[in-house]
Amino acid sequence: MNIILKTPEEIEKMRLSCRLAADVLDYIAPFVVPGVTTGELDRLCHEYMVDVQGCIPATLNYAPRGCTPYPKSICTSINHQICHGIPGDKPLKNGDILNIDVTPIKNGYHGDTSRMYLVGEVSIQAKRLCEIAFECMWLGIAKVRPGARLGDIGNAIQRYAEKSACSVVREFCGHGVGAGFHEDPQVLHYGMAGSGPELKPRMIFTIEPMVNAGKAAIRQMADGWTVVTKDHSLSAQWEHTVLVTETAYEVLTLSPGARGKPDWIA
Ligand code: MF3
Ligand code: CO
Ligand code: CO
Repeated sequence: MNIILKTPEEIEKMRLSCRLAADVLDYIAPFVVPGVTTGELDRLCHEYMVDVQGCIPATLNYAPRGCTPYPKSICTSINHQICHGIPGDKPLKNGDILNIDVTPIKNGYHGDTSRMYLVGEVSIQAKRLCEIAFECMWLGIAKVRPGARLGDIGNAIQRYAEKSACSVVREFCGHGVGAGFHEDPQVLHYGMAGSGPELKPRMIFTIEPMVNAGKAAIRQMADGWTVVTKDHSLSAQWEHTVLVTETAYEVLTLSPGARGKPDWIA
């Protein structure tokens, strides 16, 4: 494992890329309404990243370890889709929950963030799942400080998800991010407190728990990318990119439209 400690110059570049990523999620929010297709949301985000922000969408043609190249500029995961949903021509309908995940590259550095969007009027259960996943993400973030261990993050997330009668997806995790899209370390969203590598100032990684209303098991779709819950239960995910500072953390993917840490989390 090779966890890169970022230089002050790199941290400044990451602040910009991450802010731009969050800005894309702010920009697209008013377009997420019943009837719009995820393909249209992809087109809008692509144009915004490329033409307005001068960024490169990292997901477009992204092809890790022999995967088929990812064909779009954002990921859109609806309802029981966990992650890596491919935008297409199916319109969103009233009551859907949608994750949009964006990763613009600016000056060679990646900003990676995702949020849940409620389409029209959403059921109480679906809303609750989105809230639990949001709280899971922030409980993980709140553990970040020099001297803490990666397992502290995963443990906080898992405990809260399971206490809430939900489950945490095991096959996908947070990750170091910088000049590379997916760098070391892997940031598991479950595990034992006190385990794993120690956090050090100038590390940058994502925390992006995927929380299922039902069981944790996943199924891979034939398109090679879309991941769904095996039991077809709803799934929700939020993602921030986080810097370890000298004293605690700095969330890099904040913007005016991003909701902050819930008050009850220390
Ligand atoms: N943005 C996702 C993450 O948070 C990765 C998407 S890879 C893709 O790590 F190819 F599916 F777009
Ligand atoms: Co990520
Ligand atoms: Co992402």
